[in-house]
Amino acid sequence: MTNSTGPKGPTRRVNARIPGLFKHSVEERARIVAESADVSDRARAFFARGGGIDVTSADAMSENVVATFGLPFSVATNFAINQRDYLVPMAVEEPSVVAAASNAARMVRESGGFFADADASIMTAQVQLDDVPDAASVVAKLEGARDALFDAGDRSIPKMVERGFGCRDLAVRVLSVEHGVVVVDLFVDVGDAMGANCVDTVAEAVAPVVQSLIGGRIGLRILSNLPLRRRVRAFCRVDASAIGGAEIADGIARASRFAELDMFRAVTHNKGFMNGVDAAAVALGQDWRSIEAGAHAFCALDGGYKPLSTWKRTEQGLEGRCDLPLAVGSVGGSTSANDAIRTAFELVRVESARELAGVLACVGLASNLAALRALASEGIQKGHMKLHHRKTEAADQRRREEVRSEPPRSEPPAAEEATAVASARTVTR
Ligand code: MEV
Repeated sequence: MTNSTGPKGPTRRVNARIPGLFKHSVEERARIVAESADVSDRARAFFARGGGIDVTSADAMSENVVATFGLPFSVATNFAINQRDYLVPMAVEEPSVVAAASNAARMVRESGGFFADADASIMTAQVQLDDVPDAASVVAKLEGARDALFDAGDRSIPKMVERGFGCRDLAVRVLSVEHGVVVVDLFVDVGDAMGANCVDTVAEAVAPVVQSLIGGRIGLRILSNLPLRRRVRAFCRVDASAIGGAEIADGIARASRFAELDMFRAVTHNKGFMNGVDAAAVALGQDWRSIEAGAHAFCALDGGYKPLSTWKRTEQGLEGRCDLPLAVGSVGGSTSANDAIRTAFELVRVESARELAGVLACVGLASNLAALRALASEGIQKGHMKLHHRKTEAADQRRREEVRSEPPRSEPPAAEEATAVASARTVTR
C-alpha cells in the first residue's frame, strides 16, 4: 500500500473539523470526507459503490474463501495531532467507538490538540539455539561477531539496506545454561514497513552464522511481537471546561488511578484504549493481532499489568499520556490491492510509519478519554444503549421489509411474522 495516493500528495492539509458529519446521509458523508481529504477518483468510486471487496480479491488474500465479510467503514473527525489535522478511518462493529473518539478528539482539539512521537521502526528478530555447549561463555563471542552477524542479516534484505535501513544492534541472552538455550535478538530498522517479513528473513539468514560460532541446534527464527524499541508516546491536555467541569475531570483522574492500582480494571481501561487503536488499525490493513499482543505484553513487563495510558489532574483540567510498542507500516504488506485500505490511507494521509503510529496512539487516547468521561459522569450505558437501539431498530426494519417483500403465502399468520422479527432481533444483538 502507498501513502501518497491522493492527487495532490500526502502533504496537502486536511480539514478534520467537520461538525455534524453524523447528521448527513452515508452518500453525503462520503462526499464530504472525500472532499476534505481530496482523495483520488479510485477512492471516490470505492465510496460510490458502498465499499467492500469483491470475492476475487478476497480469494487472493486468504484460503478456502467462500464469501466476503463486511464491517462498517467509518471516519473519526476532529483529530489535531502535532498541529496537523487528521481524518481517521475506522472499521469496527461496536456502536459508539467512532462517535466517542471523534467527540473526545474535539475536546482535546479545543484544548490544544494531541502530541505524539514514535521511535525509529526497530523490529526484533529472534534466533534460538538449543544444546549450545558451554552456553554461559557465548555472550562475549557473539557480541564480538556483531559485524559478521549484521553483514549476514543485511545481505538478506538488500532493498531495505539500499533505502538506508537494516541491522542496527543485537543482544544475546542465555535462557538456560542446563539446556544450552541461547537467544540472539537482532534489532533491525525496517523503515516505513511493518517489517514482519523483513525480520523473519534476517533471522533465517543469521541463524547459521550464529550456529557456526557457538554450535548447538538451530531453533526458531522469527520476529518478536514485543517490539520494545519501536515505541510510540502520545500526550494531550484537556481543559476541565471542555469535558464538562471539574467534577468530571476529578472522576477521570480517579478512574485512571483505579486502573493503576488494579489489574482487573487496567484490562478494561486498556480495552477501551484499544477500541480506537484496533478500529483504525483494521481500516488501515495493519496486523492488529500483533499490535494487541505487543501492547498487553508491554503492560505486563514488570510482572503485574498496568494501564497503557494515565490521566492526571492539573489546575486547568487533565493531562493524559500513553506509551506502547506499536509496529505498523505505511508501505508494503499484502494489502495494496485492497481498495478499502488504499482509501483509508488516502484519508489519513500519513507520510511515514512513525507518523501512523502517532495517529493510532492518539486515537487510543481519545477512545480512552471518551470512555472514562462517560464512566465518570452519567455511566456508559446511556450512550451505548441509544446507539445499540438504533442498530437493532434498523435490523428490525430490514427484517420487516424482507418479510413484506416475500411472496404471499396461502395464509400469512401474523404470529409467525412476529416470531421472525423477534428472532432476527435476537440474532443481531
Ligand atoms: C467498552 O467497549 C469499553 C469500556 O469498557 C472501556 C472502559 O471501561 O474504560 C467502556
